[in-house]
Amino acid sequence: MSESISEVVTRIGCEKDKLLEILLALQSQSKHNYLSKETIEEVSDILDISVTTIYGIAEFYDILSTEKRGEYVIQICNSTPCYLKEANHLVKIFEDILGIKMGDTTPDGIFSLEFTSCIGACDLAPAVRINNEIYGELDRSKVFNLLAKLKGGEING
Ligand code: FES
Repeated sequence: MSESISEVVTRIGCEKDKLLEILLALQSQSKHNYLSKETIEEVSDILDISVTTIYGIAEFYDILSTEKRGEYVIQICNSTPCYLKEANHLVKIFEDILGIKMGDTTPDGIFSLEFTSCIGACDLAPAVRINNEIYGELDRSKVFNLLAKLKGGEING
């Protein structure tokens, strides 16, 4: 069972400099991998930080979202080192297997595809973050197996 917003804040610490950590925790327990308007308003009340400031942070960090997303958010790095290592080819592999384009979510609500800037795994370029896990050196077969494992076995492609 997930914690309430106040329980998350109490566990992490009711201080303004804990805001990012709190937002990440709340997003990760959200069914749709996002921060709802209601969540942001409650955090604003508890920490006495303006809603505008929290939205600004949520929009600044690629890992946060104020829009509903899939259970698994696949973020493909498109910063220069990953771009030079054919991140675009990896994009096509994910799009092809999932049957969606970057920025979309599969109809079953399981996977979303997004770009991200550098996630600090340049040595694994092209790097991919799926929720909190980092993956690198993926080819079509590894992507297929990874997606099938996450979904529980049924991927066409
Ligand atoms: Fe892609 Fe750093 S540039 S992980």
